[in-house]
Amino acid sequence: MSNSYLNVQSILDDNNARDAQKILRDYIVRETHHFEEKWETIVLCAGNSELVNGDHPNSRAMKSVSKSQILDRMNVPSLAMLINYMNMKSLSYDEALLLFANEFVNNDPDCIVNWPFVDVTPELDTIYVSREGGAEVEAVEDGGDEAEVEVSGAYDVKPDIAAAANVLLRAATGGEMEDLQALLDEVVTLRKKPDAIALPAIEASGEIPFGAPVRKNAQDVFGLQHPLLNFEINTYEWSGVNPLVPAKDEDYIFNVDNLHDVLWALENGENSWLTGHTGTGKSTFIAQVCAFTGYMMIRVNMDSAIERPDFVGSMAVMTDADGNTVTQFKDGILPKAMQQPCVLLLDEIDAVRADIAYVMQPVLEGQPLRMLEDGGRVVHPHMDFHIVATANTTGAGDSSGMYASAVKVQSRALINRFSTFVDVKYLNISDEMKLVRVAAPSLSDDAAAMIEEFVGVYRMGFLDGTIATPISPRNTKVIGKYVSNLEERIGCNDAVRRALQMNVMLTVDECDAIAVTGIMDRLTNQS
Ligand SMILES: Nc1ncnc2c1ncn2[C@@H]1O[C@H](COP(=O)(O)OP(=O)(O)O)[C@@H](O)[C@H]1O
Ligand SMILES: [Mg+2]
Repeated sequence: MSNSYLNVQSILDDNNARDAQKILRDYIVRETHHFEEKWETIVLCAGNSELVNGDHPNSRAMKSVSKSQILDRMNVPSLAMLINYMNMKSLSYDEALLLFANEFVNNDPDCIVNWPFVDVTPELDTIYVSREGGAEVEAVEDGGDEAEVEVSGAYDVKPDIAAAANVLLRAATGGEMEDLQALLDEVVTLRKKPDAIALPAIEASGEIPFGAPVRKNAQDVFGLQHPLLNFEINTYEWSGVNPLVPAKDEDYIFNVDNLHDVLWALENGENSWLTGHTGTGKSTFIAQVCAFTGYMMIRVNMDSAIERPDFVGSMAVMTDADGNTVTQFKDGILPKAMQQPCVLLLDEIDAVRADIAYVMQPVLEGQPLRMLEDGGRVVHPHMDFHIVATANTTGAGDSSGMYASAVKVQSRALINRFSTFVDVKYLNISDEMKLVRVAAPSLSDDAAAMIEEFVGVYRMGFLDGTIATPISPRNTKVIGKYVSNLEERIGCNDAVRRALQMNVMLTVDECDAIAVTGIMDRLTNQS
């Protein structure tokens, strides 16, 4: 992590106007990655402004408005002004972007004439620009005399030959096209149309190999042909084994609807919340999404064992390079994860403690994390950092009573920061049996049929509420393996009995044990 202090003035000093424009523009794109709907407002305001309404001298260049066109056409003082809004302590990014949108509807004649080529010094004393890890910067005293930044990559047809060029274009295209400038503008727009926001490559470190983001069609990534998955997603390719990317389970069975929703949330910077009974495969689902896409995953169990120092960080005694003992702040799970392109899996979030939920709130909004423990240090999220939560409930407590001892009613403030709720159901039994067959290829058909029936009846009891302890495909697979080993020696019936005794009976309470015995008796007497 670099902690370099970036000073806007030094950006201007060290770069030509075009490069400085690009650095500030990239900073804004990165920081406002999670606010696409706010950009829609800005684009709307810009589209309705004088700038695009024809009379304005710059309006031609803004004929079609988009986020990137607006940013491309902003010069350094304009960009600095926006960054200044973004870094105003009294404003959230949300509010800063709204203020910016207002610039387009502002009646100030200066603004309308000059915007977005502001050539007045923005009211700036201090600009805080931080790159990679967050750092403070100094004042820009003077934003006024940069050279006008050219629209990068734009072509301007020389006015004296525009008419002639248009005549030729019309002749060359049989009248289909007649405005060279409009055509060139369109070319520039299309060229710039980002696949998504261009993501940086990941530098190799001691444990992590070099990684590059690659856009791919989700159907190809998951080997599933389905219209819901026919869209581009971000994936990562690594030069070697990355220990933070989960291992692929080729037998994993994806539910296409759920997969779509989670991928959509990742692509759109939304937080998803997976809800479902124990053993429906919520945690494995996210791990497999990461395994197939190459995303790094950091999993944290949000049950009560996790304390704020684990999560945020704490002062720790360390030995420095010269062998001296020093106290230094050691980042916790959250700031570590935030600075990487990764999925932070908040497992069992409905058991989270209120103080931890509180720390997470700004981060769930895509905002930087201010760590009071470390003198107010600010950690900015990586632009490809995502949060996914899993839970047995949707945070509103558990009326069924199944999870009541572990689950707390979470505050709306926490839940509202998740937008994509995904209901994960148990695999259907025939799919589950496919997994059992893979785990235990020599299992006899009779034994497989008995296990299938047992699981079917048991699950029904669980969903009805007559059985309190859930069983997952993890149980089913173990039962299958155990039986396939034993059935040749003691027969199918006894093997199944023993397997259920070993894997289920001994872990359930007395009531459930009676139910299990009942199902077992019925099954083994039938055959
Ligand atoms: N769709 C699936 N395909 C393959 N295995 C699954 C699937 N769903 C669940 N499993 C298996 O079920 C077990 C429980 O999954 P887990 O992710 O721990 O559930 P949860 O987090 O919902 O409690 C795991 O062994 C997992 O491999
Ligand atoms: Mg889980």
